Amino acid sequence: MLLSIYKGEDMCGIYGYIGEKSVEEVMKGIKRLEYRGYDSAGIAFQSGEKLNEDENTTNGENITVIKNKGEISNLERIVLNKNLKSNVSIGHTRWATHGEPSIKNSHPHLSGDGRWAIVHNGIIENYLDLKEDLGLQVESETDTEVVALLLEKYYNGNVLSTIKNVCEKLNGSYAFAIITSHSPNKIFVAKRNSPVVVGYGKRYGVVCSDINSIKGANIYVLENEQYAVIERGKINIFDKNLMAINTSELGVVKKVEGGKLGDYSHYMLKEIDEIPTAIKRTVNLYNNIDTLNDALHKLKFKNILIIGCGTAYHAGLIGKRLFEEEGIHCECEIASEFRYKPFVDKKNTLAIFVSQSGETADTINALKLCKQKGLKTLAITNVRNSSITFVADYCIYTCAGSEIGVASTKAYNCQLAIFHILSKYFNYIKNGDSKMFYDEIKNLKSIATLIRNNEIKPICRHIAQKIYKSKSIYMIGRGLDYSIAAEASLKLKEISYIHCEAYPAGELKHGTISLIDKNTFVFAFVTQEKIKDKTFSNINEVVAREGKIILFSPFDNSNKKVVEEIKVPKIKERYYPLFIINYLQLISYYTALLLGNNPDKPRSLAKSVTVE
Ligand code: G6P
Repeated sequence: MLLSIYKGEDMCGIYGYIGEKSVEEVMKGIKRLEYRGYDSAGIAFQSGEKLNEDENTTNGENITVIKNKGEISNLERIVLNKNLKSNVSIGHTRWATHGEPSIKNSHPHLSGDGRWAIVHNGIIENYLDLKEDLGLQVESETDTEVVALLLEKYYNGNVLSTIKNVCEKLNGSYAFAIITSHSPNKIFVAKRNSPVVVGYGKRYGVVCSDINSIKGANIYVLENEQYAVIERGKINIFDKNLMAINTSELGVVKKVEGGKLGDYSHYMLKEIDEIPTAIKRTVNLYNNIDTLNDALHKLKFKNILIIGCGTAYHAGLIGKRLFEEEGIHCECEIASEFRYKPFVDKKNTLAIFVSQSGETADTINALKLCKQKGLKTLAITNVRNSSITFVADYCIYTCAGSEIGVASTKAYNCQLAIFHILSKYFNYIKNGDSKMFYDEIKNLKSIATLIRNNEIKPICRHIAQKIYKSKSIYMIGRGLDYSIAAEASLKLKEISYIHCEAYPAGELKHGTISLIDKNTFVFAFVTQEKIKDKTFSNINEVVAREGKIILFSPFDNSNKKVVEEIKVPKIKERYYPLFIINYLQLISYYTALLLGNNPDKPRSLAKSVTVE
């Protein structure tokens, strides 16, 4: 039986380890979770020795907790200096929801008697009621500390049954990892609606909130209302009545290996350079009709609805256009908008959900909504075994490889490649024309070969030099070119922090043009023959206001006042988004560097947004 409920809702990260050098293992573990975004981190470990207490360090009963605000390196500096020896540790990265980011509010939380330490992902909705009804004295503003106090209060001599009794009093979602001096050398885990996986190897046991960040040979995804007790070399899993579950029936889950930085200074640049290979890998996986028949069971439908967030949504905009070119009616929606608008049932709709991580809460919840409404659902994701894959009816995988840089790059190109492939596959399903499908596969591979980042890096650096002091930038285009602008402007703003807006070129004159002056750079994309003259007129309108145009086009431009002209090679028009975005990804990267920003970890953003 494979695991139907693996649902992401939390930004925070949990990593627990039992075995030799558990403190070091947990520190490494929570570092693998950094991509989720966090503002503080902490660790609790069992030890007979009491440390000197200070604002970061608290001793419980044979348990010590160390926490700090900010980057994990702030915690690491304290922890690794102390040469701590412990075989049982739990760690956490926190993204503040209940209470500000502070040492007090960070996890792990200790019970008042110091015998329980707990880390938590999720939200306990009735924590204030519980706190008030029971008169609990808390030190932090968190819902989690209340749970630590409940464990102490309701301890009945049996740790697992105490945890179960406490969980039954909670409303909301949780993945807990708990250590307690009542039962040393074990980590206890409980789960409801927040993802958590447990695993073990020969001499260790491990728990993690993210399947792809866990180390371990035998890994199980816990289902709702299950409990796990982890020991060195062994795991016991229990159902909601604490009846033992035979783990051989659960099925061990495979995970994806993380990427390595190698000689690169940033993941973002490495990942941009990987784009040609990533596209080819993706195309090779779906390069024949039989594979797609197997994956999609010759799906029949009339309409398509594409849903995603951020970059994935922008890929969807291109997908919409490609499907429309095949005569398929298609809508594209932002997940967080779609969920709260009236649902208009277009009969016979295939809903496609795009998510690099497969963990984005809004996208997953939109998927669940569509399933409830009886739509067929297909997920396009980069991460096998991610939450979305357990919910969608069908899955198609981008093979971008692990993407660590917060700003999505190669995953976007691979999402576009998948839309290209699907558009011709759906055409084949409708019309039986396999030639167009195989031509598309060939073309995609040639486009991948045409993407030569090393050749365009100098021009991208040059453009970055020009624009990096800007206060505000606009990007314009029509049709597919507008979709390029949308993704390009997201890339630039998320890592450079320069205000940047994408506009359909024809819409500029209905308001936004009043913001253009001699200090404003306007990127213009003109790649579609049919509408090129229209966009060139819009370029003239910008130039007339002294706006500084940076033009990307294969066509000749007659306006001498365009300040930069990047003549791109002539290729089939439908492939321009796939091809041109690389320039913009690189320009964004170099602009961020010039401004002293870390492009891999832009402020306030997270790779995976697992809160709604
Ligand atoms: C976050 C990331 C974006 C990403 C979006 C959707 O906002 O910072 O880069 O495009 O989430 O993520 P997904 O994993 O669902 O594609």
